[in-house]
Amino acid sequence: MDRAMGHLLMLWVAAGMCYTTFGASAWSVSNFLVTGPKAYLTYATSVALGAQTGMEECKFQFAWERWNCPEHAVQFSTHNRLRGATRESSFLHAIRSAGVMYTITKNCSMGDFENCGCDGSKNGKTGGHGWIWGGCSDNVEFGERISRLFMDSLEKGKDARALMNLHNNRAGRLAVRASMKRTCKCHGISGSCSIQTCWLKLADFREMGDYLKSKYDRALKIELDKRQLRAGNRAEGRWAPTETFLPSAEAELVFLEDSPDYCSRNASLGIYGTEGRECLQNARGASRWERRSCGRLCTECGLQVEERKTEAVSSCNCNFKWCCTVKCGQCRRIVNRYYCIRPAGSGRPRGKVKGGAR
Ligand SMILES: *[C@@H]1O[C@H](CO)[C@@H](O)[C@H](O)[C@H]1NC(C)=O
Ligand SMILES: *[C@@H]1O[C@H](CO)[C@@H](O)[C@H](O)[C@H]1NC(C)=O
Repeated sequence: MDRAMGHLLMLWVAAGMCYTTFGASAWSVSNFLVTGPKAYLTYATSVALGAQTGMEECKFQFAWERWNCPEHAVQFSTHNRLRGATRESSFLHAIRSAGVMYTITKNCSMGDFENCGCDGSKNGKTGGHGWIWGGCSDNVEFGERISRLFMDSLEKGKDARALMNLHNNRAGRLAVRASMKRTCKCHGISGSCSIQTCWLKLADFREMGDYLKSKYDRALKIELDKRQLRAGNRAEGRWAPTETFLPSAEAELVFLEDSPDYCSRNASLGIYGTEGRECLQNARGASRWERRSCGRLCTECGLQVEERKTEAVSSCNCNFKWCCTVKCGQCRRIVNRYYCIRPAGSGRPRGKVKGGAR
């Protein structure tokens, strides 16, 4: 294995995909893209970065949930025999696919690749009253195509789970498109703004995270025959995913199986459980959902909330010294942090376990 390939493999592992071989069957990238191993590597590296961006957003969105987007969740949703087809898995697929599309699209706008760039097809044309198209519109077409090629090709199965993953990958890509906003710049005599040029720009990735999180809350369960589910992922041969799986709900996340409660550890399912997790109480600026996290993670899982006092050190009493330094002191203060612990004298967590994962 040469060095470049080794580097790529490491990136994939970092992105949560444990490939031990780089077999041709792992990818079905259309020929038009593959002009050589070098071109291929160029995209693959950014794809891995994009998938990681999605993963980090997933961790942010689920920081105060029982399921908090563990690194290995990808394998459990795609590669593991026990792979889940849960609501959480639907979010993971969508956000990673969105991350790849987003990163590649941004790469294009930055001129990182030779064969893509801004979308200037409408430049110079009138867009509406008082504005014309101009500047660098993010070109989502290319990012969408690369995301589809790389992420969808991970689904080699022919089963319902594969269809579900493909559907959610697509919903993720649609979320990126939906985030595009018109951004304008004023022109005219001394900034009178009598005429503006405008372009379409992708929102911050956080917006896609928020948007998909609300899709997650409203995700649709697809009822399937148990046999269909168990059909496994050994399907062989070529199979072209249809774009017609649930066309009426193309932007929605879909899942097949109810989630476990994620309270207690189950290694074979890749679930850590909530024992030892930190939760938020009386935290300033926390949302209601966050402030309820101790109940959700600890007490509703039969665990106790433990308060621990820790010392936090921060800069304070800063002075500006002519010229030009800032001198600060160090201030120490005690902060309370909260953790889920097992009640004393109990072997296993007990208590009523309420609700599902959410
Ligand atoms: C694509 O963009 C990411 C940052 O968004 C950057 O780290 C990466 O190097 C870029 N890819 C290329 C090929 O320049
Ligand atoms: C983990 O989950 C599997 C599948 O639901 C179940 O068969 C097994 O008993 C569980 N293991 C533990 C330790 O709870």
